[in-house]
Amino acid sequence: MAVAGRPEDVWSAAAAYEESFAPLCAGAVPALLDAAGAPASGASLLDAGTGPGTVAAAALARGWAVTALDPSPAMLARAARNAPGVALVEGALPPTCRCRTRRSTRQSRTSS
Ligand SMILES: C[S@@+](CC[C@H](N)C(=O)[O-])C[C@H]1O[C@@H](n2cnc3c(N)ncnc32)[C@H](O)[C@@H]1O
Repeated sequence: MAVAGRPEDVWSAAAAYEESFAPLCAGAVPALLDAAGAPASGASLLDAGTGPGTVAAAALARGWAVTALDPSPAMLARAARNAPGVALVEGALPPTCRCRTRRSTRQSRTSS
């Protein structure tokens, strides 16, 4: 989703996401949380890139203590509305991943 620099564009992009892709992505949430299992005593769940808080709200309903992380204040405002009770954090995961894929590993082996 392209987001221009003006604050009102960011707010309308967040609204557009919430009304379009978020409901499509929500279908995967039960399986995602099934994979996480039942919340253990003292455990908490980090919803990184929470967007409008779909995963956070569902995790909360399953008894998780949830921290919802997103760099977008417009998204966090929606998460606050949709998942009241989660801890909201404005921030971002590092932009790069140091994970090596199987393919890149194979390439580096054959090229050396
Ligand atoms: C495609 S939306 C997914 C939202 C939500 N997880 C869902 O399933 O509906 C991606 C979200 O990740 C956030 N995001 C982008 N870069 C990020 C980063 N580096 N760390 C954490 N969140 C990030 C965006 O602001 C956006 O809200």
